[in-house]
Amino acid sequence: MYIVNGLKNNGVANPHAKVYDLRSDTETAPTEEMFEVMKQASRADDVFQEDSSCRELEEYVADLCGHEAGLFCASGTMTNQLGLLTHLRCPPHSVVCDSRAHVFLLEAGGISFHARASVSPVIASNGVHVTKEEIEANVIAKDLYSAPTKVVSLENTLSGMIFPLSEIRRISDMARHRGLAMHLDGARLWNASEETGIPLKEYGKNFDSMSLCLSKGVGAPIGSILVGNADFIDRARHHRKLFGGGWRQAGPLAAVAKYCIENVVPTMKSTHQLARRLADGLVAQGIDLQIPVHTNMIMIDTSRAGIDIQNDLLPPLLEHNIRIGGMGTKARIVLHHQIDQVAVDTFLNVVSQVIAAKADQPLDIPVRRMVSMMP
Ligand SMILES: Cc1ncc(COP(=O)(O)O)c(C=O)c1O
Repeated sequence: MYIVNGLKNNGVANPHAKVYDLRSDTETAPTEEMFEVMKQASRADDVFQEDSSCRELEEYVADLCGHEAGLFCASGTMTNQLGLLTHLRCPPHSVVCDSRAHVFLLEAGGISFHARASVSPVIASNGVHVTKEEIEANVIAKDLYSAPTKVVSLENTLSGMIFPLSEIRRISDMARHRGLAMHLDGARLWNASEETGIPLKEYGKNFDSMSLCLSKGVGAPIGSILVGNADFIDRARHHRKLFGGGWRQAGPLAAVAKYCIENVVPTMKSTHQLARRLADGLVAQGIDLQIPVHTNMIMIDTSRAGIDIQNDLLPPLLEHNIRIGGMGTKARIVLHHQIDQVAVDTFLNVVSQVIAAKADQPLDIPVRRMVSMMP
């Protein structure tokens, strides 16, 4: 059980009750145990590479992923951008990725800013993941007029959906054959690995670099880690300094991240089961899923149920200390280790009450419209 602080409770009905924050798996609160782990950590300088907790975390995750070295950084945006920049030495060059990729859409245009690379976004026609054929069709060969592709960047999970390992292998084989580097935005690779039972190492074989977030489903307060070979991580460390991302006494953050990998990651499968239970309950009430639920994320579309997220759903959920994000008829619900069955049951009850209240309303709406249309 975690202690809810006043700030996190802003906007909810009962500031003393437990808050269920389903806006993102970044919305976890550090537990008392985590603070105890932080107290025990080393307190040396990571920029001088003298901090043992940072070293231990980097070596531990690199080993889990089957890579030589790791670099502990402040955020997933930083580890993605460092990874891509470190692959991309000299323009003109480009990156090929899914058109929905975080590195393309949600990192403030970092690829063009940091690496001066253009992006070839690929539409995944199956709605889940891009295929080897789709990636290959968008690889740009070297010629006088183009920015040749240097990196293929994949994301797993993408909006909670698992990228099948068999397809990753086909893409990786093609990329290696063509001399392209493979980067993975594995912010939630932990979820994919726990759900499928495929070790991180098996995924790791297919990539030259992987970024794994620690502050999402893993539940650590801060951080993300980049893994690759020793020379690559050396160069990424130099770029991290260039970004202003060299941090000094980061040991407590590294120690708590390792604690979370060991203690929170094994709970992910039960979080995924809860997510499926919630998704099934919503579907049973006439709410559609925008994409399949493979892990901890549920993307809903409430148009068929006639629910406006901001006006109809958010206020009653807040009344029950549940927060989600959404607009219009689309919302994103993300589960993590601090969400339990009570939250799921409460959520489903709120939705059924909203739908029941709506069932009484439709008569009003047309009548009002008709009245206003009268001369
Ligand atoms: C798939 C993915 N990659 C990278 C990031 C970036 O992580 P951060 O917020 O730590 O910069 C996020 C953030 O939500 C993400 O969802």
